[in-house]
Amino acid sequence: MTLYRGSFLDTPVAGELRTELDGGLLVRDGVVVARGVVHAPAGEEVVDLTGGLVLPGFVDTHVHYPQVRAIGGLGMPLLDWLERCALPEECRLADVGYARTVAAEFVDGLARAGTTSALVFGSHFAPAVDALFTEADRVGLRVTSGLVVSDRLLPEALLTTPERALAEGRALAERWHGVRRSRYAVTPRFSLSCSPELLESCADLLGEVDGALVTSHVNENLAEVAAVAELFGGSYVDTYDKPGLLGPRSVLAHDVHPTDGELDLLGLRGTAVAHCPTSNAALGSGLFPLRRHRAAGVRVALGSDVGAGTGFSLLKEGLQGYFGQQLLGAAGEPLTPADLLHLATAAGADALGLDDVGDLSVGKRFDAVWLRPDAGSTLDVVLRSAAGPDDALAKAFALGGPADIAGVWVDGDRIRGVSANP
Ligand code: GUN
Ligand code: ZN
Repeated sequence: MTLYRGSFLDTPVAGELRTELDGGLLVRDGVVVARGVVHAPAGEEVVDLTGGLVLPGFVDTHVHYPQVRAIGGLGMPLLDWLERCALPEECRLADVGYARTVAAEFVDGLARAGTTSALVFGSHFAPAVDALFTEADRVGLRVTSGLVVSDRLLPEALLTTPERALAEGRALAERWHGVRRSRYAVTPRFSLSCSPELLESCADLLGEVDGALVTSHVNENLAEVAAVAELFGGSYVDTYDKPGLLGPRSVLAHDVHPTDGELDLLGLRGTAVAHCPTSNAALGSGLFPLRRHRAAGVRVALGSDVGAGTGFSLLKEGLQGYFGQQLLGAAGEPLTPADLLHLATAAGADALGLDDVGDLSVGKRFDAVWLRPDAGSTLDVVLRSAAGPDDALAKAFALGGPADIAGVWVDGDRIRGVSANP
């Protein structure tokens, strides 16, 4: 057993900040077994996390593994950015040696940012996806990922067929789905690059892999939405619904430009949306209609969308998400610091169907982040003068980043921090 001492903030109930200031959490076999514990049972380990804040590990519901090196390609809308920045880099992952290097950079980037669980857009190349699972498993991150499939529009090297997509996806799922912290996600890239037959083969794979997730993109950019309408006829959401790809274990990224009918359908299916604020700003995709999603009962969480997004930190995504709602004026949803924390943690766990993470309640797994800025840094200075926990959290979102993450735990295993990764 281990007693963690510190100031713990989490949001088991949306919008409500729960605090355990200068408190203690007792963890056995990776699970929180008691809160409010002051003294460790005789002979048990004590880990001192006092100073700074301890938060639940962040949950990134949309991030692209092959795009680490594409971060920062600014000044282009989606389809140009894909052609010029993302896709040429993704082609390089045909070389499995290169893919292993990028997988290590990617998993390290997530851990440094305090992300403990992620729904990861994989690669179009099966050996590269295997490299990602291998590295995430080695480090101990909770990763759900899969083979990205497309059979039109993209460079030839990235294309597959419905039959090959099914066979390669099946082999990867057999190797990784349900193995330790890894799970499989059926991953058509977006309807624009997928024929109806390929989407059907995705549905076949989903039927074969019990508990698999589905992830893709939807309604990100107006030119993309118009092109999908031209190709398929119906709405963008319908292109995934028709083959049976939408349910409570489906996560669609962006949804910046939905119709009311699409929102109703997403709400009906229980499908979650990954809101990716820095990506939407960087590509000029638009401002996310959070209020309309909530009104339709659509579950929403945060995604970094690296590499269109500008980094792995969900603190930055939370802040940009807040900015976006402010910019929407009366149509925006004013977000409190507790809302931001909920979006970055518990809402993400809910979107990914991870019932036992997302907050630090008794019975949950100890996936946690210790935010402890360097002494004298601006974040350190303002945290010390914070008016209370809500104010401290607002300051963490305003100023915090990967450099302030002093420790990261998954299932009580320290995957980053002083002792594991100096
Ligand atoms: N739509 C299809 N592929 C992508 C991608 O890689 N990034 C983003 N932001 N949108 C996409
Ligand atoms: Zn994306």
